Amino acid sequence: TDTLQVGELAKKLNKDTSEIIKKLMGLGIMATINQELDKEAIELIAADYDVEVEEEIIVDETEFENYEVVDDEKDMQVRPPVVTIMGHVDHGKTTLLDAIRNTKVTAGEAGGITQHIGAYQITNNGKQITFLDTPGHAAFTTMRARGAQVTDITILVVAADDGVMPQTVEAINHAKAAEVPIIVAVNKMDKEAANPDRVMQELTEHGLVSEAWGGDTIFVNVSAIKGDGIDDLLEMINLVSEVEELKANPNRTAAGTVIEAQLDKGRGSVATLLVQSGTLNVGDPIVVGHTYGRVRAMVNDLGRRVKSVGPSTPVEITGLNDVPQAGDPFMVFADEKKARQVGESRFKKQQDAQRKESSKLNLDDLFNQI
Ligand code: GTP
Ligand code: MG
Repeated sequence: TDTLQVGELAKKLNKDTSEIIKKLMGLGIMATINQELDKEAIELIAADYDVEVEEEIIVDETEFENYEVVDDEKDMQVRPPVVTIMGHVDHGKTTLLDAIRNTKVTAGEAGGITQHIGAYQITNNGKQITFLDTPGHAAFTTMRARGAQVTDITILVVAADDGVMPQTVEAINHAKAAEVPIIVAVNKMDKEAANPDRVMQELTEHGLVSEAWGGDTIFVNVSAIKGDGIDDLLEMINLVSEVEELKANPNRTAAGTVIEAQLDKGRGSVATLLVQSGTLNVGDPIVVGHTYGRVRAMVNDLGRRVKSVGPSTPVEITGLNDVPQAGDPFMVFADEKKARQVGESRFKKQQDAQRKESSKLNLDDLFNQI
């Protein structure tokens, strides 16, 4: 819409309608209050008041919400799988992640690893795998609650000496709800009390039947502490990701999801993003949840500065005007002006919502205390 009624224009300029009508007459345009004015007439009047006309771009929220734009099949290329690790407390999730990272990331990386971000990539037999280091549940609950799906494959860690526990079942339910394939890592195989058959038995009750027992769930026996079975596990991840045919179009503006974000004293807002499609570049105008800006600098999982990253890559960025939330979608705009407009509109909406929410929260708190 690039026309305005005389009355609307008067309102925008904060003038009387009669004054505008007079001015129009002076320009040879006979007008009534409801008359539609074209862009040229609007600009003439505005110029007369020394006002610059800025076209109002209607912010298409649906464009942002459905950032997973449908790409042409011919533009799709194989991308690395994004893997999260879930399981019951103390079953060895962190140790397993460390074992994977230590066996794979340090090799050939001078200075070893300084893990800066809550996600990392390894290369196994020439194929990359991205691991999200956020606790698996958080990756599922917060992100899924916000409509974001970041995980392609779940590794379900079950301690061989402890068996299926409440959070094991919870993890299975999360993965099933998200329709994410599960690979079972039966951990702590080095322990005297390890009983992998019992784990298999217990998991059948939750619909996970081992291939060895005629089912279709992959089980891998590992010892995170000794590093046993890690290579097998990585092989299985590669296998499953091939079956899943994970693809993305790297040749478009980037879109993806916030993994984590915080305020850094020196650098300002720092956000770890997972690029899910397209390629993200330094300098890109970007909207991230209710925040926006230009990508000032990007740092990869090894703490190195990078200029551009493709699909399934986690990267830490600076340059946003505020701190976004985990699970927020992000989207790059080809046009900086549009990014700013969308960003400002979302920022404002968020602040209004927050104001409402905080007054509501106070009431809720009050009720909870009673
Ligand atoms: P939370 O983050 O608290 O849920 O625990 P987690 O699942 O990350 O377990 P974590 O890796 O912290 O391991 C828990 C304990 O189990 C630690 O004492 C580990 O050293 C031990 N552990 C982990 N993996 C193995 C293993 O393969 N063998 C043995 N013997 N111990 C292990
Ligand atoms: Mg842990």
